[in-house]
Amino acid sequence: MKIIKDVQAMKQISASEKSQGNKIGFVPTMGFLHAGHLSLVRESVCQTDCTVSSVFVNSAQFAPHEDFEDYPRDLQKDLDLLEEAGTDYAFIPKAKQMYPDGYKTYIEVHELQERLCGQTRPHFFQGVCTVVLKLFNIVAPDLAFFGQKDAQQSIILKRMVRDLDLDVQIEVLPIIRDKDGLALSSRNFCFNKRQRQAALCLSRSLRLAQKKITAGEIDAAQVLQTIRAEIEAEPQARIDYAEIVDTNDLLPRETIHKGDLIALAVFIGKVRLIDNLIVD
Ligand code: PAJ
Repeated sequence: MKIIKDVQAMKQISASEKSQGNKIGFVPTMGFLHAGHLSLVRESVCQTDCTVSSVFVNSAQFAPHEDFEDYPRDLQKDLDLLEEAGTDYAFIPKAKQMYPDGYKTYIEVHELQERLCGQTRPHFFQGVCTVVLKLFNIVAPDLAFFGQKDAQQSIILKRMVRDLDLDVQIEVLPIIRDKDGLALSSRNFCFNKRQRQAALCLSRSLRLAQKKITAGEIDAAQVLQTIRAEIEAEPQARIDYAEIVDTNDLLPRETIHKGDLIALAVFIGKVRLIDNLIVD
């Protein structure tokens, strides 16, 4: 695996891979990698000729009061894991190169960016779309791999790709969970034992919701009531949002349809976790 720190160097490598007829797969990450990230790398290795993985903690997607400084980092371990999973090039750009002095250009996907996570994190998706578009321009991937864990992110990025006629195909891969159901997240490492236990209320409430829907419930308010009751029974949990939405416009549904997104954001102590389910 080659480690690339320079934007121009990355562009040249991508151009050279393309000139040899190689299909480039790309996995953007913010590091502190776990099996969820690595599942994306492995899939890229299967589907493409050359895999680029990036590690960049993107300041533009954190508000001043959020955990940018405290976001967990362990670059050496990340590089070992990326190599083990089959990455050909690890791209680890410097913040100064990505956002030079006087940086003024941001990408917005209106309306979709305001729903769900956008309600309490109004600048978040502008930061995500901006960095992902920059990374797409630098890496020039044929395929880019994202996790269903960040369902709204994938939906917004797909819309950006369509609206801006980008030549990249987005693949969305399933949520990887621990044995007990907790969706893997870099932020899980911030938990003590009790908080880790409390965090299980997210996946548990989603399983209950799916069970209720499978038994015939189609009233979104009823299903959300079940979800809220399950989470509120956990004293350490505080709901940011729990919604059932249409995946096209991310607007709330009154009646549940197949393919709808049930999305949650819940604080466990100071850590905000997200999880979701596509209605089967
Ligand atoms: P990060 O949170 O590091 O996640 C990188 C990718 O890993 C995302 O596509 C995310 O959905 C996926 N992922 C995280 N946990 C997962 C899990 N348990 N199962 C499957 N996939 C999982 O998402 C970001 O970084 C950033 O917003 C980024 C796109 C890199 C832009 O800065």
